[in-house]
Amino acid sequence: MFKELVQYAARPALFAKGTANFWDDPHISKHLLAAHLNPYWDAASRRPATIAKTVEWLANYLPQQASILDLGCGPGLYAERLARLGHKVTGIDFSHRSIAYAKASAQDKGLSIDYVYKNYLEIDYHEQFDIVLLIYCDFGALVDAERDLLLRKVYAALKPGGLFIFDVFTDQFSGSIEERQSWEVVDEGFWAEGPHCVLSQSFHYPEQKVLLRQDTVLRDDGSHDVYRTYDHYYSELDLMALLNESGFGNHSFSYSVIGETNYASQEVVFIATSRQ
Ligand SMILES: C[S@@+](CC[C@H](N)C(=O)[O-])C[C@H]1O[C@@H](n2cnc3c(N)ncnc32)[C@H](O)[C@@H]1O
Repeated sequence: MFKELVQYAARPALFAKGTANFWDDPHISKHLLAAHLNPYWDAASRRPATIAKTVEWLANYLPQQASILDLGCGPGLYAERLARLGHKVTGIDFSHRSIAYAKASAQDKGLSIDYVYKNYLEIDYHEQFDIVLLIYCDFGALVDAERDLLLRKVYAALKPGGLFIFDVFTDQFSGSIEERQSWEVVDEGFWAEGPHCVLSQSFHYPEQKVLLRQDTVLRDDGSHDVYRTYDHYYSELDLMALLNESGFGNHSFSYSVIGETNYASQEVVFIATSRQ
């Protein structure tokens, strides 16, 4: 065990995967759903006022009764607002708990939204949507090969002239990065139900513009898991090159969509890019 710990504590190869997915873990997803729904926190979803502002901005890009694919829709905080505006929304997420909550919430509110439990890297649509959304910097959480795969899938899913709209951290984000290490021992908490120890580390790969957050969880039954989350940040030039390569065009960059929340607005850019 100690040998493994020492291995994990060393800087991992860029884009090495962890041992488990926290979004769909039965215990962790309880805490994540609470975070999505907490109106005072920007943890898993942005707070309601920011979401409302974003949807107001999105409305500028939406045709009447648009068909919208919301990738990583979580509990449906954007999907519901868009459905209320008369759009036809499909939400995809690979958290069972979020999809179950989203379905129940839409039913309670009498909203017709198609929610699908699926890994969005496995979608297979063909020229079906006016708009594809990927919101809350999830583009930057993808390792390069997955990001390139997703761009191909999104391109195929869009109708000609359709828009892919997503947000990412900009180069300004690097200014706030510090590599850190900390640990805690608790009886119950975010990462596990029973007593556990968590070693939290962050690693910066400045040449590749990537921050890795790593949490190694050691449970009292002797088991352990390593959770890794990547944040890849991009300049406009980086994004233009990537999107051009993937066949998109007419990119527009918006810096003040979310205003000043807990990130300086210059740290996040929203991009709308068009399938040719
Ligand atoms: C940071 S949250 C954002 C949720 C939502 N877009 C929002 O802003 O309220 C990321 C969401 O994407 C989902 N997710 C991450 N990777 C995914 C994948 N490969 N396929 C499907 N869902 C994914 C997670 O389960 C989570 O609900």
